[in-house]
Amino acid sequence: MSTSAFAPGKIILMGEHAVVYGHTALAMAVDRGMTVRLDERPGPTRLENSPIDDPRMGEALHRVLPQNGVGVHIDSTLPIGRGMGSSAALAVALARASLQREGRAETEDAVNERAFAVERVFHGSPSGIDHTVSMHGGAMLYRRTEAGPVFEPIQLPQLPIVVVDSGGAGNTATMVETVAGNLTRNAEYLACMGNLVATTLPALQRADLPAIGAAWSENHRLLQAIGVSTPLLDAIVDTAIAAGATGAKLAGAGGGGVVIALARDPQAVCAAAAAQGWAAFSVSPAPRTA
Ligand code: PMV
Repeated sequence: MSTSAFAPGKIILMGEHAVVYGHTALAMAVDRGMTVRLDERPGPTRLENSPIDDPRMGEALHRVLPQNGVGVHIDSTLPIGRGMGSSAALAVALARASLQREGRAETEDAVNERAFAVERVFHGSPSGIDHTVSMHGGAMLYRRTEAGPVFEPIQLPQLPIVVVDSGGAGNTATMVETVAGNLTRNAEYLACMGNLVATTLPALQRADLPAIGAAWSENHRLLQAIGVSTPLLDAIVDTAIAAGATGAKLAGAGGGGVVIALARDPQAVCAAAAAQGWAAFSVSPAPRTA
């Protein structure tokens, strides 16, 4: 017998890092993700194939699978470790497939509990935004509160978003620590990021590309100010804008990972990125699932 499940990755459109401190972030599930297949087989539970090369994988699997009897196959259409929610997509797909395997209903609570247990293996104490948006699909506003996360699905028009991969991984935990290490100075920047999400929502909802682009570039400058950008990420932002993007920003924790750019002519941005040796592709929202 075998069971399988897919879950999408995500991009944070605005508000990463600020979300750790209770500000609202905006994230969107994308049309790329992770598929997990679980096969019943004799012997210890084992990873049969995986695009993720991480020593914590065994621990992650054992959060939701028995010690024996399961062969795990993982396939990905996401770049791994680039701030596109690959570990969260893995966590949600694994949660869903493991519930199916046990004949249990994939209720929101059950998927959430298992996915968060897996996410914590990789990210320690994440805000939860990644696996929440992966579970629900579409776009959402997300805020962390003392009483738990508050999220609100939001309808966005189709936006011409290009993802440019810097080719290097950022370490989310290190980046979160960098910000925490200088919080007295960073608090004001983080609050500005939170405000920027709120003030940009009307432009996002009417697909006002110049206004959204300006806000993304402003968000990038704020991320630079808190120390999570790199010269390479800044160069990608500049290249995208020179190729006609109305704005661009790093997306995710920074230190590496991806840049998102908003462009009327996505192909022009992809070509400019390719000329520098950076992989680039357009993304669309993943359909809402719940
Ligand atoms: O998972 P990443 O690398 O896309 O970044 C997560 C976003 C942060 O706000 C930096 C951390 C978090 O837990 O929300």
